[in-house]
Amino acid sequence: MKKVEEFPIGSVSPAPRRLAPGPKGHPILGVMPEFNRDTLGFIRRCRDYGDVVRARFFYVTAYFLYHPDDIEYVVSTNAKNFLKAMSLRSNFFHRLVGNGLLTSEGEVWKRQRRLAQPAFHRQRINAYGDVMVDYARRMSAKWLDGEIRDIHRDMMRLTLEIVVKTLFSADVSQDADKVGQVLSQIVKPFASQATIKWILDNRLPTAAHRRFHREAQAIDDIVYRIITERRESGLDRGDLLSMLIEAHDEDGSRMTDKQLRDEVMTLFLAGHETTALTLSWTWYLLAQNPGVEQKFHSELDTVLAGRLPTLEDLPALKYTDRIVKEAMRLYPPAYGLGREAIEDCEIGGFSVPRKAQIFMFQWATQRDARFFPDPDEFYPERWTEEFSSSLPKYAYFPFGGGPRFCIGNTFAMMEIVLVLATMGQRFRFSLVPDHPVSILPAMSLRPKDGIRVVIESRHAKHKASQ
Ligand code: HEM
Repeated sequence: MKKVEEFPIGSVSPAPRRLAPGPKGHPILGVMPEFNRDTLGFIRRCRDYGDVVRARFFYVTAYFLYHPDDIEYVVSTNAKNFLKAMSLRSNFFHRLVGNGLLTSEGEVWKRQRRLAQPAFHRQRINAYGDVMVDYARRMSAKWLDGEIRDIHRDMMRLTLEIVVKTLFSADVSQDADKVGQVLSQIVKPFASQATIKWILDNRLPTAAHRRFHREAQAIDDIVYRIITERRESGLDRGDLLSMLIEAHDEDGSRMTDKQLRDEVMTLFLAGHETTALTLSWTWYLLAQNPGVEQKFHSELDTVLAGRLPTLEDLPALKYTDRIVKEAMRLYPPAYGLGREAIEDCEIGGFSVPRKAQIFMFQWATQRDARFFPDPDEFYPERWTEEFSSSLPKYAYFPFGGGPRFCIGNTFAMMEIVLVLATMGQRFRFSLVPDHPVSILPAMSLRPKDGIRVVIESRHAKHKASQ
């Protein structure tokens, strides 16, 4: 019972702790069926309940946060009270990326982040600019005018080649390539994390479960062999693996083989598909917005005048940068962040108990009309400096924020702009009309059946019209 003296006459007693509103859902499964039927629609519909929404997934209580201030509270200002959500701590994820940066917590995470950070400093990753341009040029050199291609498949292939080259160098690319291929295959059946099937596959020795572990073991064998060979050779190849091997704490201690393996797998998983998706969705949006595409081409023609882009061109490719920002607003590859509360807390005036799973969706907040006028419009012009600085910090967070901010964001932005500039200079894409593009919200926001386009050589068109 509260003591009387806590509320002297005339003072306002604290408001009783409030439970956030939200959909009821199925008596046993909660909102799981509705969430699985139409994940993105459900996420956006839930916003109608308010900025903090409570929903039950089977036996798990989840909170959806829609307001940038509440997102900032969880991700940044009060980050100490939150772990990564339980989906990231699942057996499945742990088997793949172990205690790598994406999944580790506490002191282990802090040390790994400290050791890995220098490998992502701008001056270090600048060395990869040429690789990015070269690989984009090589891939597009094989394209034919009028050819129909799945541009998403091409972008997946390209970013895989780039991550393989920048992580491991060319000497081991065949093996590393295999790691990437197997990895993208084995995450597929586990794409949707909220289904009963997924929960069972993750816990019971089903056939899918056994296959997954077999393939994960095959990847481990390759990655450990690459690490051993590199250690034995003593060579610094200037790639990410060499930097991680060389990284050491003030007391001289370095990463063990197991830690190296976990970080390599993490960088593969976190860096490859996200970057490919941004490129794919950007091409998709450009193909549908000829006015924007024309301005994109004219910037490329003015800044590059026919030569290949380099790092030094990046500051001048301002409109291209805005196109990418806007594409990541509408199609954020990581469309949600998940956390678990360590202690009871209050968010946006609602009580949130310990162990609650908290989700913040780039997909919803980045399309919120309170922060982005005409939120569903692709409008790169909106990204003026004034607009960016007037925006609440967590209205736009494609790379997350706070201490767990994406370590690869500069690497990714550099890669995306350089690839767009290299390919956009020579080609444009038009969508194949009888191939509807739909979104599959799996671990990331994927085009369900790819994005089929007709390749058009800008140069050929130019010549033909002369
Ligand atoms: C467009 C591309 C990318 C997007 C949209 C993206 C998005 C994100 C997001 C949202 C997070 C935060 C997750 C959380 O807080 O729960 C994150 C973390 C991370 N990302 Fe990225 N990422 C991209 C590219 C990359 C690349 C290229 C790499 C590496 C080569 C990378 C490596 C990582 C790592 C290691 C973390 C964990 C950081 C930590 O917790 O300390 N990402 N990324």
